[in-house]
Amino acid sequence: MRVGLYPGSFDPITNGHIDIIKRSLAVVNKLIVGIGISATKTPMFSLEQRMAMIESEMGPIAKTMGTELSVTSFEGLLVDVARQQGANLIIRGLRTAADFDYEAQMTSMNRAMAPEIETVFLAASANVGFISSTLIRQIHAMGGDVSPFVPRVVLDNI
Ligand code: PNS
Repeated sequence: MRVGLYPGSFDPITNGHIDIIKRSLAVVNKLIVGIGISATKTPMFSLEQRMAMIESEMGPIAKTMGTELSVTSFEGLLVDVARQQGANLIIRGLRTAADFDYEAQMTSMNRAMAPEIETVFLAASANVGFISSTLIRQIHAMGGDVSPFVPRVVLDNI
């Protein structure tokens, strides 16, 4: 039984996240999307909004694919939430070599703390590999159009 945990801030969910979630749903039996709460960052969207947007966007797709999906939030260590949720895989999307350097270090640290949990990297699809929530927030704050990069539900909540 493959239970995947896909963690992130999802502030907001982007077409890049959707790509990774769809492809994760195809390889796990159950997927948990975990929204990490950062005490230091002031988010663009509340935790409740982020959870609702992910559920409404991905719930029907998960159903179609026959894979169980849940959305949760966590504070503290990723490996702790993975254990609590019964996940044996952590899924991370990679866009660039810079992503890899950072992710590889986090993965090694997580493996040192929780050797029973495997991290898998999914390479972003080419058409969305340049999208990041940080850039979306910046573009939106400066009056730019973010509609090519995020799902409809995010535009509806802006
Ligand atoms: O949206 P992001 O920035 O890719 O999400 C980052 C997140 C939430 C996955 C990361 O900050 C995280 O793993 N936070 C939990 C804290 C933790 O476990 N730190 C030690 C990792 S080595």
